[in-house]
Amino acid sequence: MGKALFISNAAQLITMADHTEQPAKKEAMSHLNLIENGSLLIEDGKVVEVGRDDDMRDKYKDRIQAAEHLDASGKVVTPGLVDPHTHLVHAGTRENEYAMRLQGQSYMDIMSAGGGIHATTRATQQAGHEQLYEESWERLQQFLIHGVTTVEAKSGYGLTLEHELKQLEVAHELQADHPVDIVSTFMGAHAIPMDEKDNPGPFVNRVIDEMIPVVAEKNLAEFNDVFCERGVFTPDQSKRILEAGKKYGLTPKIHADEIEPYEGSELAAEVGAISADHLLKASDKGIREMAAADVVGVLLPGTAFFLMAEFARGRHMIDAGLAVALSTDQNPGSSPTISLPFIMNLGCLKMGMTPEEVMTATTINAAHAIGRADEIGSLEPGKKGDVTIFDVPNHLTLSYKYGMNHVDTVVKDGQVLVA
Ligand code: NIG
Ligand code: FE
Repeated sequence: MGKALFISNAAQLITMADHTEQPAKKEAMSHLNLIENGSLLIEDGKVVEVGRDDDMRDKYKDRIQAAEHLDASGKVVTPGLVDPHTHLVHAGTRENEYAMRLQGQSYMDIMSAGGGIHATTRATQQAGHEQLYEESWERLQQFLIHGVTTVEAKSGYGLTLEHELKQLEVAHELQADHPVDIVSTFMGAHAIPMDEKDNPGPFVNRVIDEMIPVVAEKNLAEFNDVFCERGVFTPDQSKRILEAGKKYGLTPKIHADEIEPYEGSELAAEVGAISADHLLKASDKGIREMAAADVVGVLLPGTAFFLMAEFARGRHMIDAGLAVALSTDQNPGSSPTISLPFIMNLGCLKMGMTPEEVMTATTINAAHAIGRADEIGSLEPGKKGDVTIFDVPNHLTLSYKYGMNHVDTVVKDGQVLVA
């Protein structure tokens, strides 16, 4: 695993410790467990210990001497950021639709007319394996440069077994080849193919009977996601698809209540989803039910920003006891960004979250949203040596000096990658 690494004397070492068992809710979302003048020792790619610099130097004298050193004086050290919702593997871009939306056309109207998700589906179906791999690799690089060490990645631009598998296989190869970790989600139920729009039953059956069993058998995904929205999949269809996935060991996720209230949040609680995502229009009842069922609410303010929509009620959700995570929703239609730090900024300025809460939402709570809290999301003994170092004197500066990339160094599995 290479040499040990000693990261020393950070102005603020944000450990995010003590949230591994349960996602942080309410006041716990403000507990960063921050150490001033903090240091961190990594061996064999795993965190050995974190603590005050002088204590660490006393306790691990010899092991520190043998390690590579990274001086973090005057900087902020955090767990590698985790993006729990992306559509990483896809072909092409949709600037044309951006221009159309700026002229007043709506996202859903563009989709109903055969653009939107359908446009990217055509491009992704036509793309060869290599093209998809290369385009997605570039995005992963950008994630890394912006401090992200793990991303969730969904299929859903294939819409046939063959092309859904192609997307998932590319994600699988990238997981092996690229340092950023990828957690895969099957999302065959992302759109009803254009030519079946008026008769969606057979497609829903194909997702259930044809796609889910093969994806599960090939071990190509851990989660099963559905776009539950008027004009896409109804709550009933979504429920059938998510329950079918459960039978094959795929944990439910859901794109819920994005464009209008559609009882997706309530469904998330009912089926025991690990997360419900978007939630711009989630009802009070849905929020209460999700909080009670320990569903993580994954908020995607970049999408609201880019679609010029109302933002999700982040402040209200946290106060109501929902564990909240944040994500880019990286995709070519509704959120082409790869900057999770910018999303943190939107969380503060547009959803009433505090800088502490957005930090929790992009580290440990994001890890919970993808079932990885035992490995990542905090800097504690035994967790992965995934670390982001920001060249800012305190973590408030991250969202105060907005629209800039403050990442100084990224460490993945104890290896210094971006410096
Ligand atoms: O999460 N809402 C549905 N799916 C994606 C957008 C996909 C696209 O427009 O290509 C989302 O926003
Ligand atoms: Fe999405």
